Amino acid sequence: MQNARILSGMRPTGRLHLGHYHGVLKNWVELQHQYDCFFFVADWHALTTHYDDPTKIPEATWEMVVDWLAAGVNPGEATLFIQSQVPEHAELHLLLSMITPTAWLERMPTYKDQKAKLRERDLDTYGFLGYPLLQSADILIYKANVVPVGEDQVAHVEFTRELARRFNHIYGMEADFEEKVDQAIKKMGKKNAKLLKNYRKAYREQGDEEALNTAHAFLHSQQNITVNDRERLLGYLEGSGRSILPEPQPLLTKTAKMPGLDGEKMSKSYHNAIALRDEPETVEKALRTMQTDTQRVRRTDPGDPARCPVWKFHEVYSGEEVKAWVQAGCRSADIGCIECKQPVIDAVLVELKEIRERGRDYEEQPELVRNIIYDGCEAAREVAQGVIAEVRQAMSLRYR
Ligand code: TRP
Ligand code: SF4
Repeated sequence: MQNARILSGMRPTGRLHLGHYHGVLKNWVELQHQYDCFFFVADWHALTTHYDDPTKIPEATWEMVVDWLAAGVNPGEATLFIQSQVPEHAELHLLLSMITPTAWLERMPTYKDQKAKLRERDLDTYGFLGYPLLQSADILIYKANVVPVGEDQVAHVEFTRELARRFNHIYGMEADFEEKVDQAIKKMGKKNAKLLKNYRKAYREQGDEEALNTAHAFLHSQQNITVNDRERLLGYLEGSGRSILPEPQPLLTKTAKMPGLDGEKMSKSYHNAIALRDEPETVEKALRTMQTDTQRVRRTDPGDPARCPVWKFHEVYSGEEVKAWVQAGCRSADIGCIECKQPVIDAVLVELKEIRERGRDYEEQPELVRNIIYDGCEAAREVAQGVIAEVRQAMSLRYR
């Protein structure tokens, strides 16, 4: 798809670590060349769980944005912004809430999981229940086609698709739909109009899917019809009315799981993380002192990489040759753990060098970072305002 639009967001968590880099940011950096990318800080989503403690959100936001930029997200290619600065997200959230069955929200797996996990917080709130709906509004307000997410968020994109379908079903039929379709058909000329009618007949009366596909291709090849007319004619073909909000596709990020210093998933709250802008000395020390196979007590004891967190780093950072050297050397006690860690230390330091340097440039220019975001908010708003205008019209909220 040419110029397909990508949208993704992250809650403001402050400084990011290697887990975020390998799981999300590296992917964003690649996607920004291929798609029309919108990346944003989901500060309202942070409020759904931390409504009683919002004071740290702004600083966490700026720190995170610096990490995005440090990782190579390019404001010249992608639009970077903050959710709460584009109030159209909130209006769409409200309007979509009118047609969202509460049961759809109550049965979200993330709702129950998160509530159980964050038991120390009172999450019996309307805002928290609506978390996936707010996410849908984030996506649909830009008519995003593709949403890169981790496994845990796929259900939210699925929910968004169902909601878009429901919206289109309820509001997609314009009052003067038939009339506009007639006009659009007339504009095509007699011959083309006849073709289209035949395809429609074959599909609707005989269930001929092939005819539907041909008709789609035919409509997309027509140069002189407007985007709106094309959508109407597609709706006319399928009998579904006009699709106003497109259904987004999830894009599963398929990257290696980044282990933490203890072999568990890297996470700030587990205190096993390496932050992207940590000083090289700090990084080196953390890796040097990280846990190894606990059963390898003495240098002369053979070890087993399967029991060792260092091995998980080799899986992310080392080539086949080094990995074979580790496997053999560890099991035979030919190599020591310090020796074994060296290639990992080197690889992590090389990876972080560029990130740290770019990060420092931005740290030294906070005004620049703010301006990047202000410009991004403005650009995002422009798109969002266009879509909310269409939604208002579809929902008969037009008073002038
Ligand atoms: N819920 C997402 C997360 O926790 C963040 C998010 C909010 C998001 N809105 C989004 C992600 C829209 C993708 C699209 O990671
Ligand atoms: Fe772990 Fe390497 Fe030591 Fe084996 S040699 S225990 S893989 S650090």
